[in-house]
Amino acid sequence: MFSYRHGFHAGNFADVLKHHVQVEIISYLKKKEAPFDYIDTHAGSGLYRLQSAMAQKNQEYLNGIGKLYGKEEIPALAPYLNVVSGLNAEGSLSRYPGSPWVAAQLLRPQDRGWLFELHPGEVENLRENFRGNKQCRVREEDGFQGLAALLPTRSRRALILIDPPYEQKADYQRVISALSLIHRKMATATVALWYPVVARRQIDLLVQQIASSGIRKIDRYELGVRTDSEGHGMTASGMIVVNPPWTLREQMEVLLPELAERLSEDGGLHYRCEVLVGE
Ligand SMILES: C[S@@+](CC[C@H](N)C(=O)[O-])C[C@H]1O[C@@H](n2cnc3c(N)ncnc32)[C@H](O)[C@@H]1O
Repeated sequence: MFSYRHGFHAGNFADVLKHHVQVEIISYLKKKEAPFDYIDTHAGSGLYRLQSAMAQKNQEYLNGIGKLYGKEEIPALAPYLNVVSGLNAEGSLSRYPGSPWVAAQLLRPQDRGWLFELHPGEVENLRENFRGNKQCRVREEDGFQGLAALLPTRSRRALILIDPPYEQKADYQRVISALSLIHRKMATATVALWYPVVARRQIDLLVQQIASSGIRKIDRYELGVRTDSEGHGMTASGMIVVNPPWTLREQMEVLLPELAERLSEDGGLHYRCEVLVGE
């Protein structure tokens, strides 16, 4: 079964990028009154305590949200930081929102959330954290399979967040299949796919496959904290966004260098902001 627990990583530099992009896409979808669906194929437990033994093991949040929250302001990050501050008493940083929680803070009554999680412990926490929330459905199912059954959504508008642990090599192929499936069943959906850079060649291959998939309108945003070095863990992570809001890349072009400077562990500016496939 799965050993990955997001509680070890909650609030790290990868979460900052992922959740900021998530907030920006949801805010953009809310510009129209029409409802939309938020689909989280790999939800995790939804909420994390930063003083827990898991989060304290490597204290990854200190090199992510810890370097931004309550520090000198980066204006473009304000909507994301507002979600974090909604969870914490003034002046403290004791809880961090997972992607389902981020979404739940932003959805309107007309919107719906679908949260898939397979790990028995995580799904139990997720259920507990979403008890009484009628807008978001928690499903103990494989997110890749659950996604197929939901598309196209009745709303015809959606953000699909795909955030697997990539613990099993098959995830690298499954995300490609998921992007193709979404393209066939609901080509207008916005998709935000997260990837870790642990072995750069593997990510080059993944990105190449996505670029040649026939899907159009794809942006890539990547943020690193160290020079790539295989065998020394995650040096960077990125978001592949299909059908991004038209304002997002411009914003990321300004934000990513600022974030890279703030979060860099070796003084280097490690980021990418590019159109992977145009219109
Ligand atoms: C990176 S974490 C998710 C973090 C979450 N999206 C966030 O940003 O707060 C990945 C989660 O996917 C779960 N998982 C792994 N394979 C899955 C699958 N096929 N379907 C659904 N969940 C899965 C893992 O148990 C883990 O909790």
